[in-house]
Amino acid sequence: MFKTHSCGALRPQDVGKSVTLAGWVHLRRDFGGVIFIVLRDRSGLVQVVVSGESPEETQTAAAQARSEFVIQVEGTVRQRPDNQVNPDWPTGDVEVEAHAVRILNTAKTPPFYIYDDSPVDEALRLKYRYLDLRRARLQRNIILRHETVQFLRQALNSRGFLEIETPYLFKSTPEGARDYLVPSRIHPGRFYALPQSPQQLKQLLMVAGYEKYYQIARCFRDEDLRGDRQPEFTQLDLEMSFVHRDDVLDLIEEIFAELIPAVTPQKHVPLPFPRLSYAEALEMYGTDKPDLRFGMQLVDLTPVLERSNFRVFSATAASGGKIKGIVAPGCADYTRREIDELTDIAKREGARGLVTLAYTAGAVKGSAAKFLTEDELTATAETTGASEGDLVCIVASDAKVVAASLSALRLTFRDRLDLVDPDVVAFGWVLDFPMFERNEEEQRWEAVHHPFTMPRPNTYDEMMADPLAVLSDAYDLVCNGWEIASGSIRVHDPKIQSDIFRMLGYEEADAQARFGHMMEAFSYGAPPHGGIAPGIDRLVMILADETNIREVIAFPKTSQATDLMADAPAEVPAEQLKELHISIAEES
Ligand code: AMO
Repeated sequence: MFKTHSCGALRPQDVGKSVTLAGWVHLRRDFGGVIFIVLRDRSGLVQVVVSGESPEETQTAAAQARSEFVIQVEGTVRQRPDNQVNPDWPTGDVEVEAHAVRILNTAKTPPFYIYDDSPVDEALRLKYRYLDLRRARLQRNIILRHETVQFLRQALNSRGFLEIETPYLFKSTPEGARDYLVPSRIHPGRFYALPQSPQQLKQLLMVAGYEKYYQIARCFRDEDLRGDRQPEFTQLDLEMSFVHRDDVLDLIEEIFAELIPAVTPQKHVPLPFPRLSYAEALEMYGTDKPDLRFGMQLVDLTPVLERSNFRVFSATAASGGKIKGIVAPGCADYTRREIDELTDIAKREGARGLVTLAYTAGAVKGSAAKFLTEDELTATAETTGASEGDLVCIVASDAKVVAASLSALRLTFRDRLDLVDPDVVAFGWVLDFPMFERNEEEQRWEAVHHPFTMPRPNTYDEMMADPLAVLSDAYDLVCNGWEIASGSIRVHDPKIQSDIFRMLGYEEADAQARFGHMMEAFSYGAPPHGGIAPGIDRLVMILADETNIREVIAFPKTSQATDLMADAPAEVPAEQLKELHISIAEES
């Protein structure tokens, strides 16, 4: 037997027991005569003592052992002397007196310390991911991910869902990103596409009568990467037949309300999840993924300032734009430099400038204050709720720019003023998304969610009459400012589905070639159905208090979509390309 016990499991009640342990040398300290080895396995750490009374070979092996050597220890558990108890360790009351130490394998000196979580260059961490995964932070995150996924599986199993796998080698599934293609050896010039999500397949499972499906599904998207985006990521993909929107929302809300305290007892989930329409989210927070842990809502100042002598305001209002503001509490004393930083943040989002009004005792300060009348300044304070000591930040521009820049400022104040409790997990539903958006470059309509979403209204003529006014039965779940999940009630009528493809500019033949299988399936009795897909990576990232999903993925890619450990993507032998009927074009 390699081990009888796990290192991290030993407790005072084990005192006197003979144990065999196996693991890695976490730390080793040689006090000449006595060697202390901190032994680590997945379960945790325990102190091993090799003294002058231990057998000769044991002392020699302990002397040779170095950090990250793999060793086996046989010994007896004993109480630590009172002055050596380590209250920070679960095993801190005991230690193992070694009778035998065997070196099972040696290790090169690791490129960074395993025994602490001190910052290490990320490229190095990714190259030696298997070493980084030994460290406490990633180990904690990976275990939390496991627990989260197991909980979700159990929650759905107990509610009558079936876990069903769907293929990776499939056909293009439009989710708005580029596809990863896989060339076919057997069919020259033909390609599979790795699914951007199992969207079509889960709908086909509903047509097939499975009623409640889920899958911990890997999705592949070739898109610009960010902290919350990887080229391959994991969804809890689910779909249900005979449901209305609220059935899906209620299910997710119920499961998440149970999940969070189960896997992260220190976290608090406000219930019920607030519900906002897409229009309300933009109006109140300037974004469709608001951080609901704090207020600081955007306030419309257009009615108050549209007739101002200050040209920026009156001209913006006259041309149909918006004037909106937020209140930063207690920030009236911001310096010139701090105001400039805020202005830069607004400008990055397209604003031409930022008007700040500092409500100090007896005076309102700010570069534009002198252009505003006493009445306007008072009305601004009243409308926004600003009082003495506060800073009002105002952006005047078209609605999109106002929303984006004030939303960015809101998040800046969140972080600067420490406005949120990191242990609050604030979910919220965003509902009633627009169905279509205009792709001006390509002069066509695109689906905001995806083309299988049920529009309101849903006849071609009604949709075409005012595409921007068409809403959809799509919903997003947001959490602490991240989009965690998306879903919708789907189209199950082949006529409506083909009208949507027509709206999106697919020629009949093209729609047939790409989605004929869906329309055909829908003509065989498709039940009303809907679903949702929470992103597992993002969910675990939030629960683990991380800000990049790389930290909760065992083997992630860099922001350049490379794997630094295995060096992928890599060139392949010419022979392999030939087999796949592929030749590489010279770079122009
Ligand atoms: P959507 O494309 O919105 O919807 O994706 C659902 C959720 O998946 C996560 N996600 C990602 N996570 C990491 N990296 C990425 N590149 C990435 N892209 C998306 C997010 C997101 O909310 N088929 C639909 C779902 C449905 O309608 O049922 C879909 O995939 O958490």
